[in-house]
Amino acid sequence: MKKGELIVSKIMNGTVIDHIPAGRATVVLGILGIDHTIKNRISMVINAESKSMGKKDIVKIENRELKSEEADMIALVAPEATINIIRNYEVAKKMKIKVPESIARIIKCPNPLCITNNDVEAASRFAVISKNPIILKCEYCGTEIDDRDALNALACG
Ligand code: CTP
Ligand code: ZN
Repeated sequence: MKKGELIVSKIMNGTVIDHIPAGRATVVLGILGIDHTIKNRISMVINAESKSMGKKDIVKIENRELKSEEADMIALVAPEATINIIRNYEVAKKMKIKVPESIARIIKCPNPLCITNNDVEAASRFAVISKNPIILKCEYCGTEIDDRDALNALACG
């Protein structure tokens, strides 16, 4: 261990989300619905040194294994992230994330007239019409947004 190296403990059980672009860890937490009500222990490093990325963020969620649908939502803001499922201190599984076919709830439609902004019963829903580059289309009003717009329109951010 080099002097000054930042240490976050290994976890016994749970999920480690690694290789998050620097500064996006809190957005990842938001996408996963993790807020002040969470009971699990969460640790996070923002701006960790990374050989491949320069800087990166890391999120560790103890005693919760992300489902692949949850992991895929992360692809929206961190397509290069690696999801490691930890069991008894070992990496039991590395999940590949892929941009999902559709995205419900987490992104607010930027169109103020969209029904999803005017009816509490209507949850937002976007179809992914292109994955690279990311282009999403509101299933209610047809508004198209790219990944930058999506980041700005994250309902949780
Ligand atoms: N990790 C952890 N607790 C464990 C095991 C692993 O927090 N009990 C973390 C590691 O610190 C690392 C990530 O989970 O951030 C992936 O672990 P590992 O596959 O061992 O590391 P690398 O080989 O560096 O991963 P990659 O190939 O994805 O770079
Ligand atoms: Zn809309």
